[in-house]
Amino acid sequence: MSLTVLGIETSCDETSAAVVTGEPEGAARLRSCVILSQDVHQVYQGVVPELASRAHLVAVGPVTDRALADAGALLRDVDLVAVTAGPGLVGALLVGVSYAKGLALAAGKPLVGAHHLEGHLFGTALEDPAAAPPFVGLVISGGHTLLLDVAAWGRYRLLGETRDDAVGEAFDKVGALLGLGFPGGPAIERRAAEGDPGRWRFPRPMVNRAQKPGDADWLDLSMSGLKTAVVHAVRGVKDLPAEVPHLARGFQDAVIDVLVTKVLRAVEATGRSRVVLGGGVACNTALRAALAAALEPRGASLHAPSPRLATDNAAMIARVGLFRAAETGRAVDAAADLPFPGLERA
Ligand code: KG4
Ligand code: ZN
Repeated sequence: MSLTVLGIETSCDETSAAVVTGEPEGAARLRSCVILSQDVHQVYQGVVPELASRAHLVAVGPVTDRALADAGALLRDVDLVAVTAGPGLVGALLVGVSYAKGLALAAGKPLVGAHHLEGHLFGTALEDPAAAPPFVGLVISGGHTLLLDVAAWGRYRLLGETRDDAVGEAFDKVGALLGLGFPGGPAIERRAAEGDPGRWRFPRPMVNRAQKPGDADWLDLSMSGLKTAVVHAVRGVKDLPAEVPHLARGFQDAVIDVLVTKVLRAVEATGRSRVVLGGGVACNTALRAALAAALEPRGASLHAPSPRLATDNAAMIARVGLFRAAETGRAVDAAADLPFPGLERA
């Protein structure tokens, strides 16, 4: 049975709403997706939670109306409302959850809560139907880094995770250090393209010859040592502006090396032939190219979302809502540390 889902996402600094129509276990069509990015945080070089909540409050209604209009749909055409319940900034989540509850109640529609990171796993499949289980999933966002074995939608096994900073967080911290503003990821990628790859060689944390499969750090990641190495390098340079492209390149190459190594190990360990990326860092074209090139000789394919579905968006939330359409009736509450549904820790 085909369902139309209205998705709402307010977990961090993007206010987004989207409409998806499809089958819970089958194909889904993205009918509209509106994403409003908050720029107020650029002043502070990072997301200020209270300002994020206030900006969501102003935007969530008009963004939802626009998404419905873009889809050519009225609220009465919607079968289900899905909203990000967590993880994220609790005040920001509360705005979306409260709005979605009010909307669902007033319109007599069922409501489901969606997990933001499960959303990042589903985003790619909206554009690329081959991005379906079984696959190795790599979620690389501003707040999380997860390496997962996805046997089926809803069945996730944690292979590895970061022990300190998320990959996007490392990009943002290094971006701030290099004076590139917030968020750092896109600016680092741009500057790195002009950098000399041989000039700086930074450490590859948790990648060394002494490791073997089964070791605790075989598939886990760490970013803090790399960030510290960049801090020391920055302190030592005389002309920072001239060095920025080279430092950006050295940092990005180290991150890419670590991610390629971990993904290849995960593919080896699971025998999967597809790798699906999600999260804002999946926008990085150098990373995508390196992963695709490393997987190809192993007979595995890379599936990466387009930039608008890689960074935070409600389309992926609507898609999760479609998959979890049977879960209406459960309480939906905002939770900063919402547990990942169906996640098994190895
Ligand atoms: O998934 P996302 O939009 O938000 C979270 O759920 O956190 O990810 C945002 C992160 C930021 O850390 C940003 O710097 C990073 O994605 N990012 C990038 C690129 N574009 C965004 N990192 C590296 N290269 C990029 N091109
Ligand atoms: Zn995200």
